[in-house]
Amino acid sequence: MPMNTASSSGTILQFTDVALGYGDFTVLSGISLEARKGQVVALMGGSGSGKTTLLRAATAQILPQSGRVTVFGQDIAQVQGEALRKLRQRMGVLFQQGALFTDLNVFENVAFPLREHTHISESQINDRVLEKLDAVGLKAAAHLHISEISGGMARRVALARAIVLEPELILYDEPFAGLDPISLGITARLIRDLTDKLGCASVLITHDVNESFAIADQVYMVGQGKLIAEGTPTELSASQDSYVRQFLDGQPDGPIAFHYPVSPAFNKWLEQRKGRRTP
Ligand SMILES: Nc1ncnc2c1ncn2[C@@H]1O[C@H](COP(=O)(O)OP(=O)(O)OP(=O)(O)O)[C@@H](O)[C@H]1O
Ligand SMILES: [Mg+2]
Repeated sequence: MPMNTASSSGTILQFTDVALGYGDFTVLSGISLEARKGQVVALMGGSGSGKTTLLRAATAQILPQSGRVTVFGQDIAQVQGEALRKLRQRMGVLFQQGALFTDLNVFENVAFPLREHTHISESQINDRVLEKLDAVGLKAAAHLHISEISGGMARRVALARAIVLEPELILYDEPFAGLDPISLGITARLIRDLTDKLGCASVLITHDVNESFAIADQVYMVGQGKLIAEGTPTELSASQDSYVRQFLDGQPDGPIAFHYPVSPAFNKWLEQRKGRRTP
C-alpha cells in the first residue's frame, strides 16, 4: 500500500490559487481545481491558453510561480529526487507529442514502463501488455515497428503505454487528436471505463466537446490567463457566459482570440528584421 495515499476526501490532484508560466511570463493565474478518485475531469480552452502547462505543473515538470499543487496529498514543490520519481510512478501521462521509442516495436513500447518500474515476470508482462493493446484495439499490431503504424495508431499505442501501470492518476493531453470517429468514441469510453475500474482520477485535455462532455464529471475551462468556467457538463451546457458559449458553439467571433497576442518580444524581433531588410 503506497504511503500518503489521497486524503479521505478522495482528492488526488489539487491546484490552490496557482500561477504558472515560464520565466517572467505568466500563462495562467488564480487557478484552483481538483480531481478526485473515480472522476474524469476535462480541461478545455483555446490553443495556447495553458492546458499543457497545467499538466506540466501536475507532473512537477514546472513548479508554480505561486500557489500550491498537491498530488496524492503531497505538495509537489517539496518533493524531489527518489520521492518525486515514486510519485510520478503513480501517474500515467499521455503527452501531446506522445513520443514512442522508434527503435522498439509496439509491444516493447507498452512493456517499457513495466520493465522500468516493476519486477513482474515475463509472462505477466506479456498478459498485461496484450490486455492493454487489446483495450485500444491494437493487440494484433503488437509485433509492428513504430515506423509501420499510422499516426492515429501511434496515439493509441501511447495511450496503452500511459495506462499500463494502472496508475492512480492519469493525465491525457489530447487523447483524441488524429483519431477517426470510431476510435475516438471507443477511446473516450475506455477512459471512462478505466477510471471506474481502477478508481483512479483522470484529467483529460481535449477540444472535443461532445466526446468529453459525454464522459466527464467536471469540466474546467481556461482562457485569458485564468479559469473562465467550471462545472458539470450539464451546467456548462446551460451557461450563457460568452466565452463558454463561443467555445461550445465553435463561433469565430467572441472573447477567444484566434490570433496569438502581440508581445514586446515579438515587436522587438520584428524591428530587428526590418532593420536587417533596409539597405
Ligand atoms: N517551454 C515553454 N517556454 C516558454 N513558453 C512556453 C513554453 N511552453 C509553452 N509556452 C507558452 O505558454 C502558453 C501556453 O502554452 P500551452 O502549451 O500550455 O498551451 P495549450 O493550451 O496546451 O495549447 P494547445 O491547445 O495548442 O496545445 C503559450 O503562450 C506558449 O507559447
Ligand atoms: Mg497543449
